[in-house]
Amino acid sequence: MVKKIVFATGNAGKIREIQAILADMGLEVVSMKEAGVSVDIEENGSTYEENALIKSRAVADCLAKMGQREDAVVMADDSGLEIDCLNGEPGVFSARYMGEDTSYHIKNANLIGRLEGVEDARRTARFVCAIAAVFPDGRELTSRGVIEGRIGYEEKGSNGFGYDPIFYVPAFGRTTAELSEEEKNRVSHRGNALQEMKRQLRRIME
Ligand code: IMP
Repeated sequence: MVKKIVFATGNAGKIREIQAILADMGLEVVSMKEAGVSVDIEENGSTYEENALIKSRAVADCLAKMGQREDAVVMADDSGLEIDCLNGEPGVFSARYMGEDTSYHIKNANLIGRLEGVEDARRTARFVCAIAAVFPDGRELTSRGVIEGRIGYEEKGSNGFGYDPIFYVPAFGRTTAELSEEEKNRVSHRGNALQEMKRQLRRIME
């Protein structure tokens, strides 16, 4: 009997978002840290789904060793930014683009520079998020969500993180760094992937 979701992240914002979206499922949502798991995972998959599965399985294995696997679904996400005129770069390498420790101010400036002279209509891009869920009996699910936008001409806004200041969402007329956390969660790739995962979980747990 599944009673809780252990999410493979150290990010408190992600946990808050997942708790809010899955609130009516009657499951406790805890981070891997709260579940007492600490593991270094190499994300060497070639798709977002593969990476999310790699993370979920690694945390599920740790829980199994601790004898705490029976009542927990382990979930993880992986995401990235895909810019069409750069053939989908930085994609699954978004976190590692120009080096893991390089500031996003520098990464964003670099991407804007690479798009110099590219007109509005060809600046299309999307954030993509995949979520994986691994069940105690070994069953696995994945879901995917996207948000479409365009790369801006300068950084704008100070909310969010990563590539948010250069990701302009036409429907809002703002970058995702200019949206409140609540506004962004309602339309984001992660929010959409979570909603899709919730539909799949409902079907399985009915
Ligand atoms: P991960 O899924 O936590 O490994 O994130 C991958 C990378 O994609 C992040 O480090 C960011 O660079 C980028 N990214 C993913 N989602 C977002 C977002 O919502 N805003 C800005 N950058 C993002």
